Amino acid sequence: MRLTDCHNIDDFRLLAKQRLPWPVFDYIDGAADDELTKSRNTAAFADCDLVPDVLAGVQEIDTSVTVLGRRSALPLILSPTALQRVFHWQGERAIARAAEKFNLWFGISSLATVSIEEIGAMVSAPKMFQFYYHKDRGLNRSMIERCQAAKFDAIALTVDTIVAGKRERCARSGFTSPPRFTPSSALSYAIRPRWALDYLFREKFALPNLDTHVSEGTGEAVSIAGYFNTMLDTAMDWKMAGQLRDDWGGKFALKGVMSVADAKRAAAMGIDAIMISNHGGRQLDGSRAPFDALPEIVDAVGGRIEIICDGGIRRGTHVLKALAAGATAASGGRLYLYALAAAGQQGVERAIALLKDEIERGMKLMGVTGIDQLDRDRLRWR
Ligand code: LAC
Repeated sequence: MRLTDCHNIDDFRLLAKQRLPWPVFDYIDGAADDELTKSRNTAAFADCDLVPDVLAGVQEIDTSVTVLGRRSALPLILSPTALQRVFHWQGERAIARAAEKFNLWFGISSLATVSIEEIGAMVSAPKMFQFYYHKDRGLNRSMIERCQAAKFDAIALTVDTIVAGKRERCARSGFTSPPRFTPSSALSYAIRPRWALDYLFREKFALPNLDTHVSEGTGEAVSIAGYFNTMLDTAMDWKMAGQLRDDWGGKFALKGVMSVADAKRAAAMGIDAIMISNHGGRQLDGSRAPFDALPEIVDAVGGRIEIICDGGIRRGTHVLKALAAGATAASGGRLYLYALAAAGQQGVERAIALLKDEIERGMKLMGVTGIDQLDRDRLRWR
């Protein structure tokens, strides 16, 4: 299978599976417990049908939206995800450059393998920093200051990782950051020589947004569950989130809101956006899918706060369904991570181009020329 054989996100997933050592593939592809929520995140879109209008004159269409004060060419955000250099040696740089090329919002994680400063200087595309609230207040302060200096456009505070999800694929494989070559995992790396050579001989793995403060940033191997459970602050609450927003002073989102009550509270606090997300099903298995949760949250707070539907997106029509249900934009991680793992920046650009094409085709077939024409009248739940 080659890059030119990839015609949808599932194709990229298969190519990534061929190219990655299985512990790395399973880290991306896996989720919590029975992975029910991960499956439901995508399946939810199939329970809702699109209702097209015809004879609408669609020779000129506008796919752009404004999110958190910046225009994006598509209503699709490349959600921040961690550890990208483990998936492909180009890592976060590939995502930043692809976002720049397509003029899209993207994000980097606190656990990014490229620094805040480098990403800030590299591209002018709208970018968010995914903030993990650490027990180490000095580290929290340093990340905020670095984002301010690098002129990030928004901070998204992760609110759904108060403890680590139970990721059984990672427990079985012993996946760590950085990957550790143990006798039992060595074979999985040896049978993927291209990945192994890139990993061993290209730029060394680092977590430059953390390494001023924690040893995990300097290369100490740690499981993601171990990291979450020892480094992150389980005391995090609304007051601390509000304080963080004030310290940052810029556009601020909560990533991982799932309930109407929390959405109302965020709106009442004047928070700019919520990302309805269950962390790709990697945290609370059995949690509702973002697309299922969207209508009641839109009904409660729509118009008062921006609402990003994060997770499960594999098709342009999924994006259109989320927008018609009332989301400001849709977002996802695996939708570009499989492509990154499969073929670096070239892969990511192909994946975005496919989704862009699907969004444009979908709008024309729906008979709409602008995103604002997508509303609930265009949807029917089964
Ligand atoms: C994960 C974190 C690091 O889901 O975002 O693995």
